Order: sequence, then C-alpha cells, then structure tokens
Amino acid sequence: MSVERELHTILDYIRWAASRFEAAELFFGHGTDNAWDEASALVLQSLHLPWNCKPEALNARLTEAEKQLLIERIGLRVEQRIPVGQLTGQAYFCGLSFKVSKDVLVPRSPIAELIEKGFQPWLAQEPARILDLCTGSGCIGIACAYAFEWAEIDLSDISSAALSVAEENIKRHRLSERLRAVESDLFSGLQGQKYDLIVSNPPYVNAQDLASMPAEYLAEPEIALGSGADGLDFTRRLLSEAAEHLNDSGLLIVEVGNSWLDLEQAYLELPFTWLEFERGGHGVFALSKQQLLGN
Ligand SMILES: C[S@@+](CC[C@H](N)C(=O)[O-])C[C@H]1O[C@@H](n2cnc3c(N)ncnc32)[C@H](O)[C@@H]1O
Repeated sequence: MSVERELHTILDYIRWAASRFEAAELFFGHGTDNAWDEASALVLQSLHLPWNCKPEALNARLTEAEKQLLIERIGLRVEQRIPVGQLTGQAYFCGLSFKVSKDVLVPRSPIAELIEKGFQPWLAQEPARILDLCTGSGCIGIACAYAFEWAEIDLSDISSAALSVAEENIKRHRLSERLRAVESDLFSGLQGQKYDLIVSNPPYVNAQDLASMPAEYLAEPEIALGSGADGLDFTRRLLSEAAEHLNDSGLLIVEVGNSWLDLEQAYLELPFTWLEFERGGHGVFALSKQQLLGN
C-alpha cells in the first residue's frame, strides 16, 4: 500500500519523516538538532503553518496535493541531504521569517541571541549606524533593525546572488527606508563609511573541516563556508581594516566558530572577549575599536 493511502494527518507525516530521518542518519545542523524537530520544521513550513501551531491542528487531515508535496520533500531531504530551509525556501532567525535559496547560508548563527539581548552588556549606547558584513540572506542585519528601531543598517556581501535574496528579505520586512544592500568585497564597496556596530558571520571553515563536512553543507555556497587553510583568510583581512570603519566608541562582533583557537594564537596582542550563549554556539568575539587599535 502506498504511503499516501496509509498516512493522513499532519502528525502522521511528522512521525513518518522523523522515522525516515533517524533511519537515514541525517545530519542536523541547519537550525534543529534532532529528527523530530527537523521533521516538524519540514512538514509545518511546507504547509505554511507556524512552528508553534496548536497541538490539535496536528490531527487535521491533508489533501492529496499536500501529501505529494511532503512525500517529495521528505525524499529530497533523505536522498539528496538538502537542508529544510532550502527545500521550503524559508528559515527562521530571531523568531523572524526569511526567504532562503541555494545562494545563501541557511540562517543559524548564535549571534541571534546577542541581537535579542541588544548586544548587552557589550554595546555602550544604542547604535545609529550598523553594518552586517557578509550578510547572506540579510538575517543578521534585518534582525538588528527590529532590535534597534532607529538605526540605519548596511547589509553587504560579495555575492550578488546572495544580495538579491537579502534585498527580497528587506522588502518582505518593509525595511527599505533604513536598510540597504551593498555589493562589496570586505569593505571595498563601503569606502568612507563608519559604523557604531559591525557584526559579521563570515566564512570561517578551515580546509580540513570543509573537506569532511556532512553532505548537507554541499547544498550551501562554498564561498559562504570556506576561508583558506586555517579558515581565517577573511577574518585576517577584516581585523586589519575594521578600525577604519568603526566610530571611536564602535564595536566589532565576529563569528569564527571552531577557528577561534587558531585566531587567538595568531593575535596574542588582541584582547578578544569570547561570548557565551545559552542556546549553544561558540567562537564569537567582541572587540572595541580602541582594543583593535591597542589603546
Ligand atoms: C557564513 S555566510 C553568513 C551569511 C549570514 N550572515 C548568516 O549568518 O546567515 C558568509 C557570507 O559571506 C559572504 N562572503 C564571502 N566572502 C566575502 C567577502 N570577501 N566579502 C564580503 N562577503 C563575503 C558569502 O557570500 C556569504 O554570504
């Protein structure tokens, strides 16, 4: 008997997907960390239902077309290891919905937690100008726009394809008056611009880790992940140029993940503050402009 004749409700499909994900030993690293949450995300997002929909709604029966869509996407998740965000074209970050495509990283940075706390206690005063460097889908800059209602925010990326997605997300959140997307290799397209806060989740995976990453990551642009032999090619350039683009009381927040130890050893003179997270994540540092300049 076919799956669609045996399974009828939303819960049936979440359960079936979770069993298939577990049996296939999928890797969960794009917003969830277990098969049940991954299955719930795929099924609910595909049906345009909120992640926190009422439990009784899960007993609702599906149409034939909905069943076929779910069977197809569950198959793609298992057989081609495509992350949920890229199957549904959507991901959540800071509780906000973002368009996602094959041209951007699926949003998942622990920087979300810092944004939700207004970067306290690291930020001395409300920032008037913010740069989300390496913006991808635009998730960090757009979430900052909700946290800082008056700030003007630049979202920059070297990839024009990623910037198109960021631009769509700026429009989706109706933030075009305060936010702009700028094509730029590091700061090259931002000459003369200064910011109170520069926040960046750049590529930082080292060559060894890149070669052994689970298949799920092949669905994301390589330029979003790898950054040379030790993963720090981009961050080295960033550290040498960031002070020029920060106001005197400005703050730099950068994620470098597993490359944090190599970075610390390469820059013994810099007093990195490594930030802690309640919901998991590591390798994000804060440095003030004055610390960058050695003052
Ligand atoms: C790890 S992704 C982060 C995307 C997004 N900030 C997020 O957290 O989901 C890194 C992004 O950096 C961009 N990138 C890579 N090299 C760059 C460069 N030299 N200058 C600017 N952006 C770059 C990539 O195109 C990619 O969108």
